[in-house]
This record gives sequence, C-alpha cells and structure tokens, in this order.
Amino acid sequence: MRHFDHHAGVLHAEGVPLPEIARAVGTPVYVYSSATLERHYRVFADSFEGLDTLVAYSVKANSNIAVLALLAKLGAGADVVSGGELARALIAGVPADKIVFSGVGKTRREMGDALRAGIRVFNVESLAELEALNDVAVSMDMRAPVAFRVNPDVTAGGHEKISTGKKENKFGIAWSQAEAAYARASELPGIEIVGVDVHIGSQIDDLAPFAAAIEKVGGLIARLRAQGHTIRSFDIGGGLGIPYGDNNRTPPPPSEYGALVKRLTAGLDVQMIFEPGRMIAGNSGVLLSEVLYVKRGEDRDFLIIDAAMNDLLRPALYDAFHDMEAVVAPGSAAADASYDVVGPICESGDTFAKARDMPEMRAGDLLVLHSAGAYGAAQSSQYNTRPLVPEVMVRGDRFEVIRERPSVAEILRSERIPDWD
Ligand code: LLP
Repeated sequence: MRHFDHHAGVLHAEGVPLPEIARAVGTPVYVYSSATLERHYRVFADSFEGLDTLVAYSVKANSNIAVLALLAKLGAGADVVSGGELARALIAGVPADKIVFSGVGKTRREMGDALRAGIRVFNVESLAELEALNDVAVSMDMRAPVAFRVNPDVTAGGHEKISTGKKENKFGIAWSQAEAAYARASELPGIEIVGVDVHIGSQIDDLAPFAAAIEKVGGLIARLRAQGHTIRSFDIGGGLGIPYGDNNRTPPPPSEYGALVKRLTAGLDVQMIFEPGRMIAGNSGVLLSEVLYVKRGEDRDFLIIDAAMNDLLRPALYDAFHDMEAVVAPGSAAADASYDVVGPICESGDTFAKARDMPEMRAGDLLVLHSAGAYGAAQSSQYNTRPLVPEVMVRGDRFEVIRERPSVAEILRSERIPDWD
C-alpha cells in the first residue's frame, strides 16, 4: 500500500492533500508518512523473526525526534554517531541499552556522556580510540562495552562516497589487525569486549556483499572465541538499498535480506544488531516544493523550484536520482514536457534533474521529490541564508509540524559583529 498517492487527481500523504500542507506551512517542506515509517520498520524487523535481534535505527538518516519517538515506540533502538544524536535518541525515548555508538571520531566528552547514559555498546574504530575510551571509563570507575568495527574489505554501496567497507576507506580496524585489537582490549581495565561490528556501505542493491561480510565475520568470531574472548553480538550495520524510481536495479526486499542473515548466522550464537537508516526512512518522505518560474532557455527549459541543494543535497553530492511528480495530476490534454529542474542557489550544482520528462508545469504548481525521507532534512543547511527546511509528519488525516521553519531573525541571532574598539 502506497501512502503517497493521488486521490481525485491530487497527491496525498496518507489522508492529507499536499496542497493543504503547502498552504499551512509554506514550501519547501518535507512531509513524512508515519504509516510508511511504521510499515518499513515492521517489515524490516519481522524479516528476522526467530532470531535474537536489536534493530538500531541509524539516526543520521532522519534524526527528527518525532521520527525517533515513533520508531522507539515500535521497539527500535538507535545507532548514533555524535553526542547530539545521542541526546536526540534519549529525548525521543529510545532506551539507553538499545543505543549503539558508531563513528571514527568520538570525543572524550561524547564517550563520557554515552557511558553515563548506559548505552549498549561502543563500536570502536581504532586503537587510539580504544585507549581514549579506556581512559574515560577508568576515570569514571566504569567499564565500556566495546565491539570493534572491523573492515572486511568487501565492495558494496551505490556510490563511491557512500562505500565504506573497502580497505582504503577510513572506517573500521583493518582486517589483518583485528585480532591484535581484541587482544589489546582484553588487557584494559576500562573495556569489556562484547561483540563485533561491520558496516560495508549504503544503498546496497545486492545481497552478495552482505553474504561475503557475514562469512568473513563468522570466521573471525570463531577465532576470537578460540582466543578466549566473549563475543555476544554481531552488528552488521545498515546499508540495504531502496528503489529510487530510476529503473536501476531494484534492491532485494528485506524478507530476502532477513532469510540470508538467518541462514548465514545460524549456529553463530550471537545477538544480531542491525543499523538500517535509508531502508526505514527513505521512502517515507517527500520534499514538497513550488515552481517559482519556468525559464525558457535556448536549448532547454528550466523549472526553477523553491527547494534547493541546501534542502536536499543528494543530487548535487552524489548525482542521486529522485523521482518527481506533479501534485495535481495533469489533465489528459496536458502536454508532455522536459525540464532541467533547478533550485535558486547560485551554483550550477543546484540541479535536481536534467532533461526530466514531466507534464507541462506552470509557476505556482506544486511538485514533490520522492524518496527524500532519508539523508534529506538531516543533511540540510542554511546555505545562501535559506532558512532550514521545515518538516511535517502525517498520521491518517492529520498532520503536525515536527520542525519549524526558522525566521531570518532566528538564523542571525547566534551571530555577532565583534566590537574591537
Ligand atoms: N551504520 C553506519 C555505521 C553508517 O555509517 C550508516 C550510514 C548506517 C548505519 C546507515 O546506512 P543505511 O542503512 O542508511 O544505508 N548521505 C548518503 C548516505 C551516507 C550513509 C552513511 N552511513 C546518502 O544520502 O546516500
């Protein structure tokens, strides 16, 4: 069941016509369907039925506290990568013992906050980080639960900038150094070894790299146990891709991913931890925008819309494809057109699509960019002093603003002109 669909010619989010949100909140605005978020979480979690699992939603994909609170109610944990994300997860009601802390550059302060909160595990990415975490834990008279993020050197991920499991990437402990890292950890009084962690990339549309990573880590777990370490959990990270509507390969459904994981981890005797982000949030949201101008160029027409690369960075940063759709379905008499769809920012990179086939559009028409629920609002900025794009959540026929659009005065409030004299 699609929760973004046309009814009587008008695109709705669940029961709410999108023009109603545009009128009430203005554009551009992100609109999330709570029913879709809920469905994606359940489909994902249910695919591991029978396994001992923790689904730790990757907060970076969409970190709005309303999204986190909804997922927490369904039983999700959280994968966080900063003190800020940790605070969000806790405020949203994610139990601390379902929070995993990832990232190559945790600060001592963040480590202390997470230890105090009582998180499940630190995914440690280097020996230098391990020593720092040990210092912090010892100074607090605590032991930090640790899994090493190991780098299995497998190729995966939809784009060079989001592939993480290759040895040239900055992530994880090199495969050849993994056992030595565990040996060192077992000597440290502030460290308790609890598991192993990998994350091989994002927007992965093929099960083979997951299979390769699981097989390699399975072998590592056996060796670590033989060396006397206690390995209770295996965190396989996130990365399962979603369809973006560009007719590229469609990623496997979570049910197939779940079946693979069940098959390959049978007998490992570990709790499986997952860190899905995009899979839960990506197709739960659209970016709703208004056409400002249609500019007739020499060899092409431009659709200048009021959303820009600061609101949705993915096309500019990764050449990402986002399906687009007119909010009011064109009548049968409408002409077909082709547009370069661009935002108002003063950079050529502020282009959402080139030569995109669309119905003929006019100034004032609304359109959506689909699959914008993950790495959309979360990566937005105020570049060009464009106020941070607001977010709305829909539930049935109701909607609620879950992040307000700041005024320019609010943006300027934190800035100062030094009074040197
Ligand atoms: N766990 C770790 C350690 C990660 O680094 C990531 C994503 C995830 C989980 C969640 O991965 P997912 O299930 O969402 O694929 N901004 C890029 C994606 C960057 C992904 C970074 N790490 C994009 O818009 O495509």
